[in-house]
Amino acid sequence: MTPKKFAVVVMISGRGSNLGAILRYCKEVESSFEVVGVVSDKATAPGLLLAKEHAIKCSIVSRRKQEITAEQFEEELIRAVADYKPDLIALAGFMRILPPRFIRTFPDRILNIHPSLLPSFRGLNAQKQALEARVKFAGCTVHYVIDELDAGPIIAQAVVPVFNSDDEEKLSNRILLCEHNLYPKVIQNLAQNNLALDSHKHHFLEGDKLVSSTHPSPMCLTSV
Ligand code: GRF
Repeated sequence: MTPKKFAVVVMISGRGSNLGAILRYCKEVESSFEVVGVVSDKATAPGLLLAKEHAIKCSIVSRRKQEITAEQFEEELIRAVADYKPDLIALAGFMRILPPRFIRTFPDRILNIHPSLLPSFRGLNAQKQALEARVKFAGCTVHYVIDELDAGPIIAQAVVPVFNSDDEEKLSNRILLCEHNLYPKVIQNLAQNNLALDSHKHHFLEGDKLVSSTHPSPMCLTSV
């Protein structure tokens, strides 16, 4: 009998290029995980089309112009994700701050990818923040999601140079390529090790290998 693959739910709000990279990875590599569902808070998210092309089930939970309360939205979101019985939830451009109850419902099972070398440049427009700070290197970070925005323990990072000639678009595109390379590998590593993610033992990539640590905030650089 083929072993059950690690079940991943991807949450999106827009373009879904990271979702696309994750789905491509599953097709091209003998992956230990499968995307069992995509949850979007926007009915018009282009990423949903991508999911449909790959025959992945999708759920849309939107605030419908405030027709439902924040509590109802929270409940619907939890139900939509829980229905897929995920081992892991991967935020990929999900543009809402997750309510604490959502995070408590799926403890240490939520990952996010952020387009900066955290802890620098949290929040929106990270690439613009990097350019304004005139840093020489930028990149992306995959981290666990905790209540504080973009502040959870770091699992893996990828670095790119910043050139004097860069504008926001050029830098964003360079970082995005790194995101597409890094995110599926992190998920694959977590899935291969069939890790029960728990907050006392965090996992991070060293080169291509997943390592466990009891250190509260492990950090490692992966150049691509
Ligand atoms: C990415 O830059 C990701 O780092 C950030 O949101 C963007 C999503 O892009 N969290 P896409 O929808 O995956 O193309």
